[in-house]
Amino acid sequence: MTGTEPGTRPILVRALFGEATSRAPFWFMRQAGRYLPEYRAIRATAPDFVAFCLDPEKACEVTLQPLRRFGMDAAILFADILLVPHALGAGVAFKAGEGPVLEPVRDAAAVARLEPALAGAAERLSAVYETVSRVRAALDPAQALIGFAGSPWTVATYMVEGGGGHDFMRVRGLALREPEVFQRLVDILVEATIAYLCRQAEAGANALQLFDTWSGVLPAAGFERWVVEPTSRIVAALRARHPGIPLIGFPRGAGTNLRRYAEATGVDAVGLDAGVAPAWAARELPRRTCLQGNLDPLLIAMGGEAMDAATREILHSWRERAFVFNLGHGITPDVPVENVERLSALLRAWRREEAR
Ligand code: CP3
Repeated sequence: MTGTEPGTRPILVRALFGEATSRAPFWFMRQAGRYLPEYRAIRATAPDFVAFCLDPEKACEVTLQPLRRFGMDAAILFADILLVPHALGAGVAFKAGEGPVLEPVRDAAAVARLEPALAGAAERLSAVYETVSRVRAALDPAQALIGFAGSPWTVATYMVEGGGGHDFMRVRGLALREPEVFQRLVDILVEATIAYLCRQAEAGANALQLFDTWSGVLPAAGFERWVVEPTSRIVAALRARHPGIPLIGFPRGAGTNLRRYAEATGVDAVGLDAGVAPAWAARELPRRTCLQGNLDPLLIAMGGEAMDAATREILHSWRERAFVFNLGHGITPDVPVENVERLSALLRAWRREEAR
């Protein structure tokens, strides 16, 4: 059961393909994670984060955990955007309290060292596809499974900077000073990402999201070349091979570039960060684009009336459009479980007809 038969498609898939569904489909970025005690319990049994992501039994279990508690309309595959550089031999390690560390790729020689790994990169991640098929088999047909990858630009920021938490001067400098070297790195990532996402689709993913966490650090010309162009190539390749699978792009911080992104990349849905006013998105983004977002993650940490009011504002602003409710970025480890319960209950009770 892939959920793609007419009439039996999960509500999330229908919304992503542009249907104004009667209720609000929802999931939360980073819904599997440290705010859940049952996640921390399994995480403690797997100290190496990459090995944890590549353990289908554990990854399947933590993917399903949030749905058992909160009844989201979608599970998101438990994995990480840095598995693609891992498969390309970029030496990915997660250090406790420090975040990810990679062997920096900063010149033509370092890019050339990735080439031999490209052809086998998607196959090296076969444990991920095993997780996808286990999760799909365990889900209710009405629930969707979202597969994902990082966008080439965002993944490249980690590869060139050698980790996270930097000011992006090295990656922006390489892209500006040696565009042909950087282009080759992006091309490698485009090819590896297409193969990786196709395998997730074949294993049973019902929708795919491209996380572009750092698209907002690029000026407009760089956004066009390093975000819009590679994303369009990935979308075209997936669309050709898997037309029944909707694609979500999340260009975080894109600001005034959002409309261009929605118009030019061909994604079915655009993930919005909390900086975008819901009413602006409803008015300015193309009608055929499904909106996804965009509650400030700090408000789910606070909970109460403030969270409810901001949630209602999003639902009210988007009542005439196809949308998927989400946060503007990932749930943080300090979020109380009761707040996620309260928000999920509010979303489950909402009906479009009553909102009109
Ligand atoms: O529930 C889900 O959202 C599914 C799993 C998922 C993870 N990472 C698990 C994870 C997803 C979709 C991601 C995407 C991801 N990974 C992004 C894009 C989304 C975003 O948040 O902007 C990025 C930039 C990464 C890279 C990454 N992974 C960093 C910078 C870190 C360290 C920071 C941190 O939060 O610790 C990770 C680790 C990571 N990936 C964790 C989880 C649950 C925490 C690791 C742990 O359990 O110790």
